[in-house]
Order: sequence, then structure tokens, then C-alpha cells
Amino acid sequence: MLKLPGNLTAEAFLKRYWQKQPLFMPSALNRLRPAITRNELGWLATLEDVESRLVFVERSNKRCRYRAETGPFESEYLQNLPKRDWTLLVHDVEKHLPAMRALFEHVPFIPDWRVDDLMVSFAAPGGGVGPHKDNYDVFLCQGIGVRNWHFTNDKVIADPDASDELALLSEFTGDKNLDTVEGDVLYLPPGAPHWGTAKRACMTYSIGMRAPQVSDFSFALNCPSPNDDDFYRDPDLDIDEVRPGYISSAAARRASSLLGLSNEQHDEVSEALGYFATKAKDWLKPDGASPEETEETLEMLRNGGHLDVHGMSQIAFDDRTLYVNGSGMELPHNATPLIEQICGDRSLARSIPGDIEQDKMIRWMLRHGAFEIPEHS
Ligand code: SIN
Ligand code: CO
Repeated sequence: MLKLPGNLTAEAFLKRYWQKQPLFMPSALNRLRPAITRNELGWLATLEDVESRLVFVERSNKRCRYRAETGPFESEYLQNLPKRDWTLLVHDVEKHLPAMRALFEHVPFIPDWRVDDLMVSFAAPGGGVGPHKDNYDVFLCQGIGVRNWHFTNDKVIADPDASDELALLSEFTGDKNLDTVEGDVLYLPPGAPHWGTAKRACMTYSIGMRAPQVSDFSFALNCPSPNDDDFYRDPDLDIDEVRPGYISSAAARRASSLLGLSNEQHDEVSEALGYFATKAKDWLKPDGASPEETEETLEMLRNGGHLDVHGMSQIAFDDRTLYVNGSGMELPHNATPLIEQICGDRSLARSIPGDIEQDKMIRWMLRHGAFEIPEHS
């Protein structure tokens, strides 16, 4: 877990900072591990199914402008970039390199359905994406190098002329201006203006959150609302809600009140949260096992084998339903400890107890792409 500053506990972090105000956490990580190299990041950015961007800072006497290009990129192009003033950003790194998911273990006090992805950036000196704000909370973990940050909780006006592609704010000094080095972490709540610039070539690992918008539910739940753009918020998040894979009933209550629904529709709202939390981007959806692979894998499990959760697979559950990659099934009686173990360890490490209901559940999970299918000889 992150080493929080002073005597701050995870409970106190949630109370004072989560969704409320920025927090700089010097040396919150000993060293940033696991890490990836600039070359590995560059390689990811050449792949078709990986979302990547290059942002160039174009400096002139008058002002800075920011220009973005979308990947995939030719590796020769990446190798011949200028010495300064650009940054390469790659999204969903933990889905392509599952070992990188270990970085999420630094924030065990956040429900894992709220964690969206790990974005990793490499910035040449002078590089950055410009002053902006994001709609979601983020833990910005500094890897190698040095990055200067300006950030604030105050309002900063938009600057539509700063870029054609990016929604940027006016340059601002902010009430906080500091340099981050390896192991430092900066937490920002949704909407907090921030502006990072590499002082020395640097890598930044962003643990980014997600939160549904009213529009994500209003159609499915037939509850038209004028506040379609509002985001789910949980500034009152309680550490007791946090269990691997679990969508708490407090989460469904918050979503219901955001939607203006009574708690009578609690189960439907919780279901909508489950689908939202586990639905993958089309190009990141793992294939389900064929009927033949399913039976072979179950046999292997009965013989004491072990399965890893697929790197791209998203699993969650509430008190009634299990969700895997945007599909749901009724959670069998007594299956909660098994599902919690699978979500926590990202593996099914023990042979499944000969329980017909749980057997059916594992079969369903295999068909929905929950697990990496082992090669059979
Ligand atoms: C970056 O890693 O350059 C961008 C992080 C951010 O500002 O959200
Ligand atoms: Co940002």
C-alpha cells in the first residue's frame, strides 16, 4: 500500500481527500515496481489493439500550443523523435502486460470496480500534455526522472486555442508547484486542474479511476434525467465497503440517488453498476472458451490444476449477481468466498469443490472469457 504522509491512515485519506482535494505523497512508494522501460512502452505503442497518443509541445515566442497524434506508431518514427518537448502515452497497460496490475495493490482502500486502467507516459524533457482537468480521480505515480507539477483545487478557465485535439485550460501557476521524483505520488480528485512538465526525461504511471455517468444508466433503467452528464460520486466511501470485486449496496444507493430513483430499484441499479464496471472496450474483450475448451479446463481443475484470470477480464459481484466482462449471472448460494478469492488473487488457485452450482458458475465464467485458457496437449 502507498505510504501515506504523516500518520494519515487509509480511513482518514478517504475522509479528508478522496474526491475532495489533492494530496502530494512524497516517497509514497519505495521505488516504482513493477516498472516498464521506455522501449517496452514504445513497443506497446506500435500495436494495433493498444490505445496510444503522442503529444508535442510547440513553443513559440507568443505561446505554447499542444498537438496530439493517435497511435499505433511506426517504431522508426518513435525512434527518431526530437530531443525535447513531446510525450508518449499508452492506456490500459495492465490489460496488455498483466504483471503491471500489481501497481493497483498500492491503493487497496479503493473498490476495484472503481479502478479503470493504468496509463503510462514517457516524456522527453519539456514534454507534457498541458494544463487540463480530468473527470476522474487519479493517482499519478512518478517513475524514473523528474516532473514538475502545478495543481490546484481552484477553478481555471478553458483555453480552446491551446490545442485542436486536446481540451486544455489556460496556463496557471496554481497554489501548488512542486517537482516529483521516483516514488512520489500525487492524488487528484475529479476536476482538479493540473499541469505536468518533464524537467528531466521521465515516466509517469497513472492509476486512473472510472465512474459511471447518469447517461450510462438512464436508458437501461428508463429514467430520463436532465443531469445526463453527472458522474457517480462517492466522497463518503467507507473502507468497510472495500472487498475484492465487490460492488457494495452503498454504491447502489449512491447511484440510485444520483438517478433520482427510490431504493426500491436498488437491485436494478446495482446490476447496471455491475455491467458498467465490467464492460470492456470492444477491442479489449477476451474471447470466451469454446465448449470443448471449457470441459477440458474443468477436468484440469478437478485434477488440482490452476487458472489465471485473463489479463483483460473484468470481474465483479454484488449481493445477488456475478458480473464478467459485461454479462451477469445469479451468484450461487455460498459462492461469495470463492469469487472474492478469484478477484483478489486474479487466479483460481484451488480445485473447485464438487459443488454443482459452483461448477456451473466456473463453466459460465470460462464461456465469458474470465480465465486464460491453458494450452492443452
Ligand atoms: C502524463 O502522464 O503526462 C499525463 C498525466 C495527467 O496529467 O493526467
Ligand atoms: Co490529467
